[in-house]
This record gives sequence, structure tokens and C-alpha cells, in this order.
Amino acid sequence: GGLITLDSGFKNTGACESKITFLDGEKGILRHRGYSIEDLAKGSNFLEVSYLVIFGELPTKAQYEKFEKDIKRHTLLNEEMKNIIDGYPKSAHPMGILSSMTCALTAFNPITVNVNDPVALYEGIVKIMAKFPVLAAWAHSKTHGMPLNYADNSLGYVENILNMMFKIPTETYKINPIAVKALDELLILHADHEQNCSTSTVRIVGSSEAGLFASISAGVSALWGRLHGGANQAVLEMLEAIQNDGGDVEKYIAKAKDKDDPFRLMGFGHRVYKNFDPRARLIKKAADELFEDLGTSDPVLAIAKHLEKVALEDEYFAEKKLYPNVDFYSGIIYRALGIPVQMFTVMFAIGRLPGWIAQWREMRLNKEPIGRPRQLYIGEPLRPFVPMDKR
Ligand code: CMC
Repeated sequence: GGLITLDSGFKNTGACESKITFLDGEKGILRHRGYSIEDLAKGSNFLEVSYLVIFGELPTKAQYEKFEKDIKRHTLLNEEMKNIIDGYPKSAHPMGILSSMTCALTAFNPITVNVNDPVALYEGIVKIMAKFPVLAAWAHSKTHGMPLNYADNSLGYVENILNMMFKIPTETYKINPIAVKALDELLILHADHEQNCSTSTVRIVGSSEAGLFASISAGVSALWGRLHGGANQAVLEMLEAIQNDGGDVEKYIAKAKDKDDPFRLMGFGHRVYKNFDPRARLIKKAADELFEDLGTSDPVLAIAKHLEKVALEDEYFAEKKLYPNVDFYSGIIYRALGIPVQMFTVMFAIGRLPGWIAQWREMRLNKEPIGRPRQLYIGEPLRPFVPMDKR
């Protein structure tokens, strides 16, 4: 082989050409298929953005209605999936449940989503769009000892997520349109983010010609970690810790700056954004609007704002260009919607699903080769084998 360039963490390596998402980290710009994230957050809805991200164009009314209808046709899961979920302890983390249940779908839908067959490809896409939120809601129900609900196909995509999570058989769960609006916007803001850790995982797994569902399941696992999607859970736990510690924001800023202390300011910093994450800006505004609409408040929002202010005025954060990212304020919204902290990353996964699908589809349609990074070997040179009795 030729010369190998080492680039740990792929900080400077482009892995593909893509037409899906444009991101300018210096300027803090994010666009999907050419549309600004601000316009999409304001004027669109999650299902429409999903269609756009996956297929490349905004849907016509007929295309949108067909997409929605086709998704609704696939919201049932094979009842035997319940045997699998029954096996989990209640203490299981919902991300672990979601990842493995997504992979379990392959057993009941043994389709190989053939990218050269547009009908099969479309079928695979609507199936995973339909079934994934059901699995996410089941992960929530399981860990709360609640009954497993199915989608109510008279409801919209985002309404259904809340309904499946919170509906209990003895009561009518009244969906709050304010909650639906807030969740819809959050999901839009998570729809895609080019070659991040989970998306790269989906592409790499898919590049071996593993199926769509298996690739997405791997993406869920990649998202789980606290340096990636798991940061939204970590942020809220951090804000609560600060609150319980008397709200001493400065102490935590000092800890984050201390190189001997492993603590990092969760929800701050980004591999690509060296400026405000445009999603964080929109989410902060959405949080303010939500509390106004609900007529409630949350003391951790004030702590988060204080923390942001102190960090942004601090030399350390300025020098390293560390700004709030998408995960900094999102958890505060989830919490206001009654979503438990362990479910935050699951909500992120529902939002990122269209991005994973779009990137998998693009990768396969582009006939990209198998993802297979190289390495620089720095281990032992050849040495003679020593039998066990001589060691
Ligand atoms: N608090 C304190 N210091 C930080 C932070 C932070 N949150 N983030 C980066 N730094 C410092 C880091 O210590 C390093 O300093 P030095 O140059 O002195 O060694 C410098 O800034 C550069 O950081 P890095 O770790 O080399 O940057 P990276 O691109 O490898 O990591 C990151 C990016 C997002 C993993 C990192 O900023 C981080 O750990 N942030 C906290 C976790 C988080 O919020 N993750 C969510 C990311 S956004 C959306 C998502 O993926 O979910």
C-alpha cells in the first residue's frame, strides 16, 4: 500500500461526497438540501423535513400525504416483538432497548432493502419511519412498567410519539398541542447533521451491505455515548448537580477548565462548530416560548443561561471556540414535556432517523466502497512463539 496518513477521530478526513446537509462550522450555518435550518424550523414539520432530507426535495401535497399514509400502514409491530421486550429488566437503559429492538426488526422483516429496486427501497424507508417511534415509546413504557401502546393512526406522527409514551388504558390522554409543536421543532432540529459519529457508523455498517435496519441499530448505539447524543442526558444531570450544589456555576466552569479534572461542560463544544451552533440558538428560543405558552418555569433553565453567560465571557471557552451545542437546551424542553431524562437520547434518535436513512440511501445509491480505514502498526515486530510451559 501507499503512504498512510494518520487522522485520529477523522478530524480532517472527508469520507464521502454528499448532497444532504451543508454545515459551515466557522459561520454557524446549517442547511438541509439547501434549505436553512431556521426556515425549516419555522415553516415546516418533522415529517416534511424527513421527506426532504431522505428524498432531496420538499414533497408536493400529494407526495406528503402518500408518505404519511404509507408510514401509517406500517406502524404495527409483530406481536412476537413483545416477547423480546418482556425479557428486559425494568432498569434497562431505553437506548439499549431501542438499539437491540431495532435490530430485532430484521428478524420479523427479513427484507433486504435493495437500493436498485425503488419500490423495495421506499418500503424499507417507510417501515423504519413507522416502527422506530413505536419501539422508542415501548422502551419508555417498559422502563416505567407501563403497557405497550401502538400508534393511533388518527393522530399525526409527532402526536403519536407522545400518545404512545404517555397514554394509559384507564384514562384519556389529552395531547397538548403546545407539547406537539415543541417536540416537532426539536425533532426537525435533529433531523441530520452530516458525517457525525452515529451517521458515519450507519454508513460504515451499511457499506458492508448490511441492511437498513441493522445499520440504523448500530447508529443508535453510536448515538448513546455522552460525547454524542448522550450529551442531552448528561447536560440535565449536570444542571441538576449544579442546582443541588447551591447553583455555584463558577465552580463548575473552573472544573471544566481544570485539565486535571475529567469534568467537561456538557452541551458545550463541537467538532465542527467553532461558533454558535445554530440549533442551540433556536432551541434556547423554543425553550423560552414553551415555558411562556405552558405558563410554567424550570429553575434549571436559569442555571443553564447563567452557565452559558459565564462560559461565553470566559477566556478559556473563547480561545477554544466552545459554544453551546444542540444538546445544551434540548433536555430542558424534554423535561417540560414530561419526558424522563433517560429518554432524552431516545428522542434525539427519533429526530436523527431521517438523517440516518438519507445517508444510508445516498451511500448505497452512490455505490460507495466498503468503509475500511487503515492504521499505522506500532506493535511488536516478528518474534518467535514461546510454548506455554516456557513462559
Ligand atoms: N468543556 C471543557 N473543555 C472542552 C469542552 C467542554 N465541553 N469541549 C472541548 N474542550 C476542550 C478540550 O479539553 C480541548 O482542550 P485542549 O486543546 O486544551 O486539549 C479542546 O477544547 C478541544 O476539544 P477536543 O475534545 O479536542 O474536541 P473534539 O472535536 O475532539 O470534541 C466534543 C468535540 C463535542 C466531543 C467536545 O467538545 C465535548 O466533549 N463536549 C462535551 C460533550 C457534548 O456536549 N457533546 C455533544 C456534541 S454536539 C451534538 C451531538 O453530537 O450530540
